[in-house]
Amino acid sequence: MDENNLILPNHLAIILDGNGRWAKKRNMPRSYGHIVGTDNLEKMCDVIADMGIKYLTVYAFSTENWKRAQDEVALLMNLFRKYLKRCEKKAVRNHMRVRIIGDPTALAPDLQEEIHYLEEMSSGYDQMYFQIAINYGGRDEIERAVTKLADDARKGVLPEGRVTGETFEKYLDTAGIPDPDLLIRTSGEQRISNFLLWQLAYTEFYFTDTAWPDFHKEDLIKAIEAYDHRNRRFGNA
Ligand code: IPE
Ligand code: IPE
Ligand code: MG
Repeated sequence: MDENNLILPNHLAIILDGNGRWAKKRNMPRSYGHIVGTDNLEKMCDVIADMGIKYLTVYAFSTENWKRAQDEVALLMNLFRKYLKRCEKKAVRNHMRVRIIGDPTALAPDLQEEIHYLEEMSSGYDQMYFQIAINYGGRDEIERAVTKLADDARKGVLPEGRVTGETFEKYLDTAGIPDPDLLIRTSGEQRISNFLLWQLAYTEFYFTDTAWPDFHKEDLIKAIEAYDHRNRRFGNA
């Protein structure tokens, strides 16, 4: 199939999973899987930009991932530090606006500063929109949104009456970003793991056994081919 004839998802979301198992299979520590997984994210970001996909959202660290061993959490935070720095160049290359979704307040102050800097320096780009979920949980996002919404209701900022989905979405981390059309989860698991609970209402799901460090352009094309053959419905007949 010619990749140029594929119908692309406007918004692609990916649960980057399987780094640990990928490394274990090679008798390497989990950290090695995270390093190769991060390098792969950098490469795939360019591939996805070059294909012309407008929105990309990746799940890098969940609100539940803090429960992992301390040294693994520390390594992941250090990788984010380096990755976000390198992401500045990607933003320029791909004319890409980068935003972090999730609750940054639990992150180290220097990491929060780096996030702030990256978001600011890329805020004028509009060729592609890249969201990275760090300390993100769908339930946590909804809790934070409802808290802000209740605050505004108390202040009298909200119109009275029923809160609509349209109003509610403005309080989510993804405000202004269209819902994902296709969600890919690598490495065999078939669950959402607290990702984008509100936004995935009508998203097509694609699961593959390939682990994230091994997920390359040809695997992405396979996923998009499968998506291309889906008969998308939104409750209509
Ligand atoms: C994904 O790989 C990266 C993160 C969740 C941070 P995992 O670390 O979950 O790898 P597996 O699922 O244990 O193989
Ligand atoms: C989901 O992967 C979170 C990320 C990829 C960041 P996990 O590996 O943490 O999810 P579970 O524990 O298998 O559900
Ligand atoms: Mg996992």
